[in-house]
Amino acid sequence: MRGKTVYVLNGPNLNLLGQRERAVYGEATLQDVEQRCRAHAAGLGLEVVFRQSNNEGELIGWVHEARDKAAGIAINAGAYTHTSVALHDALRAADLPSVELHLSNVYKREAFRHTSFIAPVVNGVICGFGVDSYVLAISALSALITASKKG
Ligand code: DQA
Repeated sequence: MRGKTVYVLNGPNLNLLGQRERAVYGEATLQDVEQRCRAHAAGLGLEVVFRQSNNEGELIGWVHEARDKAAGIAINAGAYTHTSVALHDALRAADLPSVELHLSNVYKREAFRHTSFIAPVVNGVICGFGVDSYVLAISALSALITASKKG
């Protein structure tokens, strides 16, 4: 049901969580992240559609789908965060409560990670808390959805 469903979208290379650059991204796998998201969202009365793709077009398709089917979007767009005008446009068009998130603190890292094409079209950004960034993003989304229903 739209009012209770949030899309948690994951971009390129996040399928390798728990295997790649563990010093940066931690030990948890994407499956572990999905379980944390589902458990936390359930406590807030939300259902999660959790997806990952290495393909920019597929992510854009899911943002379009969320436009019709979801109450909000939490997105870790991975490296597309720093490159994708198309994801910027899709999120703008979706016009839903939305949160950008990252496991790592991108501002402590290379300069090319300091630019986000997505940040200007979401409600807020959470980064640097590892898997907790997902949990915090879902809490923020829940508050935004509640506020948008009152408004
Ligand atoms: C990331 C940060 C991005 O800069 C990077 O390209 C990723 C993961 C994060 O979750 O910390 O793939 O989005």
